[in-house]
Amino acid sequence: MLKFTGSLKISGCKSLSHRSVIIAAMAVGQTKIYNLLESQDILSTINILRSLGIKIKKASNYWVVNGNGTGGFNEPDKVLDCGNSGSSARMLLGAVASNPINCTFIGDKSLSKRTMSRVTNHLEKIGAEIKLTKNDFLPVMIRGSDNLLPTEHIITKASAQIKSALIFAALNIRGKTIITELTPTRDHTERMLKYLKVKFKSEKSKNGKTTIELDGPYEILPKKISIASDPSSAAFFIVGALITPYSKITLENICLNPSRIAYIDVLKQMGAKINIKKTHQVCGEDIGRITAEYSQLRGITINSEQSPFLIDEYPILSIAASQATGITIMKGLSELRHKESDRIKSITYNLIKLNFNVKTRGDDIIIENKKNTILKKAVIKTFGDHRIAMSFSILAMLYTDKIKIDDDKCISISYPNFKKDLDKLITKYNA
Ligand code: S3P
Repeated sequence: MLKFTGSLKISGCKSLSHRSVIIAAMAVGQTKIYNLLESQDILSTINILRSLGIKIKKASNYWVVNGNGTGGFNEPDKVLDCGNSGSSARMLLGAVASNPINCTFIGDKSLSKRTMSRVTNHLEKIGAEIKLTKNDFLPVMIRGSDNLLPTEHIITKASAQIKSALIFAALNIRGKTIITELTPTRDHTERMLKYLKVKFKSEKSKNGKTTIELDGPYEILPKKISIASDPSSAAFFIVGALITPYSKITLENICLNPSRIAYIDVLKQMGAKINIKKTHQVCGEDIGRITAEYSQLRGITINSEQSPFLIDEYPILSIAASQATGITIMKGLSELRHKESDRIKSITYNLIKLNFNVKTRGDDIIIENKKNTILKKAVIKTFGDHRIAMSFSILAMLYTDKIKIDDDKCISISYPNFKKDLDKLITKYNA
């Protein structure tokens, strides 16, 4: 039998890592970045920034980015390949828009099916010239300008990527850009800019609206950046410990940004024994230690209003739900259809294949108690989606004889050390 035990510091946060290299590229001079996540997605962002004339290199235990200032990108002499990374494509489209250069962004098969107009519509409105493929997709050609219009944007889709793209563009727009998001989303960009002493206003109203007001162009002065460990990657091991008898683990250095750890509240509502202890603050983010141990989970209803804060954790929450008593209903998951795979499909397809009692109702997923269910042996289809591969790898620790994963190379997209770290936390014992 296997159980999860021990303590670990996992790799840097993907969201913070993207932002750190992009913002450092727009600072004037040299930024050292510690604990940068060295995954495929982050390497896509780094290689694109290099093609835009930014010198980036790895030193012993940190990365060095030589920023050219806001508006300092050079016209690339090749296409900008985002690989599988939606964050690279969307945020960098915003970052290059306020530079007078021509760029072509491309991506892999999965990314080429993901919508880009949610960002480019805003950029077109302020004067960037954009050519999308089939009105919505990569390859995207963009001709930026250093004379974009300062204006107000209202973001109706809950997406931190759209917000960050517009903030990055605004850093080199002369005058006031006002960005209002109707539903709040993760605020790493704002926190990192505040840490770097970039002056802008940010207001949250009672009805959930957030308004950010920037007055560019800005000069960003470099400062050392340390990246907290990824709370979304931590979620895999936390759920592993919760669903596996005799388990108890501690994860150190985790980013405790409230917009990223909402899944812990959800798990606690399900009966999870999880303890969080804030230890310090780094670059505007609270950091802490999370302990989780085996718990009897029960099903709950997760309302759609929570979805922007749980967006990357639904695959692993589904695994938790598969081991809970009662019914779990996850509501309003339409945004999951726009991720690295259609995650409503990839979650339900695989759980059903294993014989769990799972169904969908529109954009809701309903997962029933596994009691009396005889699981079938199955090969899990990851659909090339890293979070599906890692979620079912965790379930496979409970059902080693039943679950095989068809293709887990995609894990390197966000967490190349996943298997090594999993091995460190797994102990064999005789039942
Ligand atoms: C991210 C935001 C989320 C998330 C993605 C990373 C970010 O996407 O799913 O993995 O770093 O801002 P959306 O903002 O499009 O929901």
